[in-house]
Amino acid sequence: MSGQPPVETAEAPREATTDEGPRGSRVMSGIQPTGAIHIGNYFGAIQNWARLQDEYECFYSIVDLHAVTVPYEPGELPSAVEELAISLLAAGLDPDRCRLFVQSEIPEIPELAWILTTIAPLGNLQRMTQFKDKAGEESESVNAGLLMYPVLQAADILILKADRVPVGEDQVQHLELSRVLARRFNNAFGETFPEPRPLLTRSRRVIGLDGRSKMSKSKGNHVGLLDPPETIRERMKTAFTDPQRKRREDPGRPWVCNVFSLHHLFSDEGTIARVDRECRAAEIGCFEDKMLLAENMIEYLAPMRERADELRARPGRIREILAAGRDAASELARETMNEVRERIGLWQANRPDTA
Ligand code: AMP
Ligand code: TRP
Repeated sequence: MSGQPPVETAEAPREATTDEGPRGSRVMSGIQPTGAIHIGNYFGAIQNWARLQDEYECFYSIVDLHAVTVPYEPGELPSAVEELAISLLAAGLDPDRCRLFVQSEIPEIPELAWILTTIAPLGNLQRMTQFKDKAGEESESVNAGLLMYPVLQAADILILKADRVPVGEDQVQHLELSRVLARRFNNAFGETFPEPRPLLTRSRRVIGLDGRSKMSKSKGNHVGLLDPPETIRERMKTAFTDPQRKRREDPGRPWVCNVFSLHHLFSDEGTIARVDRECRAAEIGCFEDKMLLAENMIEYLAPMRERADELRARPGRIREILAAGRDAASELARETMNEVRERIGLWQANRPDTA
């Protein structure tokens, strides 16, 4: 990626997500509660999170303290957290095989983040691509939380001593900072944190229904993971195909058509081969093709919608799952903070008297 500052390590290790990591490796990742998730989030991140549960000890966090760095509606945050938890569980996170928790329930995270700010190089923070994008021209008046965002992210990871972090390409720079902070801390105060490595998501950027930009909720070019069938059909009607194919009798170019690339996520090999052939031969029209894709999407997503409905019918279950995740994360977080306090020389009233 261009335009990124050279942080202390030159390269980010790229590991295949299927890599049999050493047993005992701990995976951690986070996602902001900015509402229900879309199929881009699923294929770009969550599907991979679900796969990793088979191989690693996994902790997944709903990062509400990150979400409050941008304008938001306080009254809507709790339901956004709950909706995200439902989506993640519906998408395959299994409370028996991973820990799902809400970041703000672990006060040791912002506590560690503060300590990490004292060793975080300001220049690195100011050069973060995401910070520059979000701050825009306003870098004087922008809130300091946006600048500290990657330090809080490092605290998320280091508090659990996680060593593998599944993220998309856009987070590699933040991960580099986590590595820098782990290394700086270890050098200054003694070996404490493993240096977390990114597990780059094998999959691709999902392009939105406009056929141009990355699928994202803010662009309105998305299909929600839990959208009802009618919504999916309506949304698919608006999808862009090959812009050069103006009439039904024009041959299409599947290789430039975003609808065709979406087929690869939802349709079987036979369907993909048939659409490829019939589109080039103008035997299938764009509308028909989009409706075929819509039906395959609906079928693919149906089990997730069912799981989500089951969870919604039992609201106590979500609370239980998040509480169990919190308790597990909290235990590790307390251990880490005791160690950190000791190492950096903070006053501990209950310290055993060694004199
Ligand atoms: P966001 O909601 O943009 O913070 O994204 C949450 C996660 O989903 C991150 O790991 C992103 O990399 C991933 N993601 C978001 N949009 C897409 C997309 N259109 N294609 C692939 N991955 C995506
Ligand atoms: N910044 C990440 C994103 O926008 C979310 C995140 C917060 C995260 N804390 C994390 C990701 C810890 C991995 C590990 O996608």
